[in-house]
Amino acid sequence: MPGTILFTGGSSGIGLCSIKEIAQSGSKPKVVVANRTPPPPPLPSNIVYEQLDLSSQASVRALAAAWSYGPISALVCNAGIVGPAALGQYTSDGVEITVAVNYLNHALLFFLLKDRNLLEPDCRIILTTTEGFAKRTDPKLSNPLIQYANTKLEMILFAYALVRRIKESGKKWTVIAFEPGFTPGQGSKLGRDSPAAARWVGDHIIPHTLWIFRMFGTVTSSPPVSGRAMAKVVLSDEYNGITGKYILLHEERPSSKDSYDVEKQEDVWNWTINTLAKDNPQVLKPF
Ligand SMILES: NC(=O)c1ccc[n+]([C@@H]2O[C@H](COP(=O)([O-])OP(=O)(O)OC[C@H]3O[C@@H](n4cnc5c(N)ncnc54)[C@H](OP(=O)(O)O)[C@@H]3O)[C@@H](O)[C@H]2O)c1
Repeated sequence: MPGTILFTGGSSGIGLCSIKEIAQSGSKPKVVVANRTPPPPPLPSNIVYEQLDLSSQASVRALAAAWSYGPISALVCNAGIVGPAALGQYTSDGVEITVAVNYLNHALLFFLLKDRNLLEPDCRIILTTTEGFAKRTDPKLSNPLIQYANTKLEMILFAYALVRRIKESGKKWTVIAFEPGFTPGQGSKLGRDSPAAARWVGDHIIPHTLWIFRMFGTVTSSPPVSGRAMAKVVLSDEYNGITGKYILLHEERPSSKDSYDVEKQEDVWNWTINTLAKDNPQVLKPF
């Protein structure tokens, strides 16, 4: 896989571990890490940083328009947020911020790169998601975890709708929904918007109680283990031809019943196109 890898959300946690794994892998591919802050040094020299704020469509457009790293062999949509601080905030584009960062502006990034013909014929599109809190209703936006889960389910629904369109077009792009497992603390900053006490518990207590989560069937992990598993999904020949699948850490698993509902997939697809098309006519172009 010779092309460049574009990786969102590589400045901490699972993403940071994963970009290092990818950069040090056999073919030493160039990895462009895009988020708001640069990943901390030391870093292999084939990792480069580009500024990206996924809460802003303008920032996504700027990254896609200025792209100068050649064809993209993998687009990894890993950036994500959760937390009460984000809840009920709207971006300057008028979208709830968890939806914008976790899902919608990743979809925009894909459409803009596709429009510029930057995705290689065998490009892998990896969407980091989770079904950990899968429940898709919270009309009052009262629960940050449910809102988080909504955005992650939207990603899976979009992935499956996208796979259908890719197949119809005859393209060979691979789309994988990747779940890193429950990975609290240990360098993950996912709880950064939570109140200080909750953050402290998340960083210092929860990581020592993972056995309890495992007892109830939750797959738990750590950023290095999940980062390595994600790197494998990005690079390994093992995943050749595996498209439209849900990979939980190391294994293919079925995703939730909701996620296979074609009506819901089309609902998310149409909402995405309609919401983005106003300022981004490229999303209306056929494949
Ligand atoms: N940790 C878990 O238990 C778990 C479980 C299942 C799924 N996941 C998913 O795995 C992914 C990584 O999680 P993590 O635990 O590694 O969390 P993390 O340490 O908080 O990493 C999140 C990344 O997203 C980036 N990000 C946040 N807001 C952004 C924005 N507005 N624009 C661009 N980038 C932004 C952050 O970079 P900047 O702050 O530099 O922008 C950071 O690199 C997330 O999608 C998360 O939902 C995590």
